[in-house]
Amino acid sequence: MPVPTSPPSSLSHDPQGRPVLTTPRLVLSAMEPTDAAAVASLAGDKRVHDTTLLIPYPYELRHATEWIATHAAQWQRWRTDWTMNWAIRREGSLIGAIGLVGAAHHKRAELGYWIGVPFWGKGYASEAALAVVAFAHDALKAKRLESGVFVGNEASRRVLQKCGMTDECIRRARYLKNGVHVDEHVLSVVFD
Ligand SMILES: CC(C)(COP(=O)(O)OP(=O)(O)OC[C@H]1O[C@@H](n2cnc3c(N)ncnc32)[C@H](O)[C@@H]1OP(=O)(O)O)[C@@H](O)C(=O)NCCC(=O)NCCS
Repeated sequence: MPVPTSPPSSLSHDPQGRPVLTTPRLVLSAMEPTDAAAVASLAGDKRVHDTTLLIPYPYELRHATEWIATHAAQWQRWRTDWTMNWAIRREGSLIGAIGLVGAAHHKRAELGYWIGVPFWGKGYASEAALAVVAFAHDALKAKRLESGVFVGNEASRRVLQKCGMTDECIRRARYLKNGVHVDEHVLSVVFD
């Protein structure tokens, strides 16, 4: 599968050597401790919690602070582990987050993301996800990318499809979410 290339993105590195992905409307860059308030505000919306696995509800400032503090160790090892998180920024303001959980020894990674509710429906998740898929293909030389969405999260499934991912399987009753068993739709792309 060739990697989709539209919209285009470009790769640079910040002074710490961390990758920065730039798209026509967005900049994906490392989270800073100063991002915690924006993360807590946007990820704290229950609609973001409802379709994600790892975002607690209620989401307090300390959750954001503690989460961002874990990134330093990830950035120490991103070239070998392929696990990393970026802030999604529009005009300098954080609007969401996107990241990879790597299994670099298998040349594979899992993609995850969220966008703050006020910014839904404007193509931002698709634009950010495409940039990370291109980065995984071009810079990391990944063979396979995968993502799991709760069955019914059609917006996220569509984002992944626009990145070249196709349906792989449904894992039944994979998670217990808000007291209900939910199926997971697994999508993936395998590069040539
Ligand atoms: C899923 C999410 C990231 C989408 O972000 P977004 O920036 O609004 O997404 P985009 O605008 O890039 O694209 C959404 C696509 O889904 C489509 N879509 C939206 N709602 C849909 C629905 N109910 N059924 C089918 N398609 C839908 C849109 O039309 C668009 O496709 P298009 O470009 O072909 O028209 C956002 O809703 C979110 O953060 N949700 C909560 C967290 C989450 O679910 N994260 C993913 C976990 S796997």
